[in-house]
Amino acid sequence: MNKELRDKLGVNENNPNDWFETLYSESNDSGSGVPWANMAPHPIFKNWIDQSSPLKKEQTALVIGCGLGDDAIELEAKGYNVTAFDVSESAIELCKKRFPNSKVKFITADLIEGITEWRHKFDFVLEIFTIQALPPKYEAILIKNVADFVAENGKLIVITEVQTQKRIYENGPPWLINADYINSFEQNGLKLISNTTNNETEVGEEIHLSVFKR
Ligand SMILES: C[S@@+](CC[C@H](N)C(=O)[O-])C[C@H]1O[C@@H](n2cnc3c(N)ncnc32)[C@H](O)[C@@H]1O
Repeated sequence: MNKELRDKLGVNENNPNDWFETLYSESNDSGSGVPWANMAPHPIFKNWIDQSSPLKKEQTALVIGCGLGDDAIELEAKGYNVTAFDVSESAIELCKKRFPNSKVKFITADLIEGITEWRHKFDFVLEIFTIQALPPKYEAILIKNVADFVAENGKLIVITEVQTQKRIYENGPPWLINADYINSFEQNGLKLISNTTNNETEVGEEIHLSVFKR
């Protein structure tokens, strides 16, 4: 993305959250103007969860950067006790408006700051396209904070687009991540169980679905 478009969107490396609130506050419950809004679960995640074994007992799930909430609703339908958060208050209001009968706890919170009371708390954590939505200088803290949410024996799913080119601020958003994100999660106490890749990307070279376990 060039500087002109970045400036138009209000993207700022030192206030990286603000433009999301602007975008969602100008949107509505049809997701107009939100480029990533599928208004349905992410198809790669949906395919993965439909093939997973049904839950034997209730488990907790956390959806990171939940946007308009469809992935959280999918997890609720599969029997999870779901918490979902986004840094944008307007996104969270739209989730509540779209799904008034859901028991999902939709919460405004900031992944860069982290949420200490959620440390090792969730059996299942889902991260789709949030790390790549934030400038490269936050990568280490984002990965640490995502990994921290995963409970003992819990699972993390990361869906992300990957590039071999070095991440630099001038090229984003999005700031596609490099494949060494896998090592970073492992250095934060998780172990890679599987990594599925395909080439049906929007901007990157590959799209990954990685499953980690604590
Ligand atoms: C590219 S969108 C992806 C949304 C959703 N996961 C999906 O796949 O449709 C990135 C999301 O992360 C949220 N986000 C950005 N910065 C965040 C932060 N610091 N903490 C929590 N959420 C954040 C944005 O508001 C946006 O909803």
